[in-house]
Amino acid sequence: MIQMLHVHKTYSNGQKALIDVSLKLDKGEFVYIIGPCGAGKTSILKLIYCAQRPTKGMVLFGDKNVARIRKSRIPYLRRNIGIVFQDFKLIKTRTVFENVALALEVIGATITDIQKKVWKTLSFVGLYNKSNEYPIRLSGGEQQRVAIARAMVNNPLILLADEPTGNLDPEMTVDIIDLLDKINIRGTTVLVATHNPDLAKNKRKVFTLEKGRITNG
Ligand SMILES: Nc1ncnc2c1ncn2[C@@H]1O[C@H](COP(=O)(O)OP(=O)(O)O)[C@@H](O)[C@H]1O
Ligand SMILES: [Mg+2]
Repeated sequence: MIQMLHVHKTYSNGQKALIDVSLKLDKGEFVYIIGPCGAGKTSILKLIYCAQRPTKGMVLFGDKNVARIRKSRIPYLRRNIGIVFQDFKLIKTRTVFENVALALEVIGATITDIQKKVWKTLSFVGLYNKSNEYPIRLSGGEQQRVAIARAMVNNPLILLADEPTGNLDPEMTVDIIDLLDKINIRGTTVLVATHNPDLAKNKRKVFTLEKGRITNG
């Protein structure tokens, strides 16, 4: 479903973030990218959701090379992608329900559709009874579950998670990884980038990144 072929990324300041990276994610897989801070993990995710363009190489989403996609097409590509960040990025002035609903409002979903999908997703992530709370009143783990609900409410083909447990204690980390597993089992492809190798222990598909290069797989 996603394939990177001989991808290089050098930022405008000359920093080489990725060097000859090739990787493949099949539909339905749960894949980890692990590596220390500065290894290039976030750069890989950014190339997939077109927040950055590769300096060289191909990034295939299905059979489309998104390295060359027109800027005006990027919002449409992103409808297929859910994204979760370390710092949750919730809107403080909106309730849990409203934060999740926003993802559907921006693509012009009907009110009926929004109601149905947001309630369904909030029950899926276990936050049905927190729908009226504001993010500040939630634990870190709950806030991340809101962010995950927002990322998955539109049923994307792939969920990208950049250090999703970076701000969480070990117990909440397990909860979040369990939730991502549950989402994957429903059929969504999941890609997690983390500097924490423990998360990827005993996992089937793990790419290790060091100084911009994949050193395994
Ligand atoms: N916008 C940018 N401009 C210049 N250098 C960048 C930019 N983004 C990331 N980098 C550099 O690229 C390298 C890889 O960064 P990143 O992909 O964020 O790694 P990771 O997510 O593994 O910590 C680092 O050296 C980082 O400083
Ligand atoms: Mg990063």
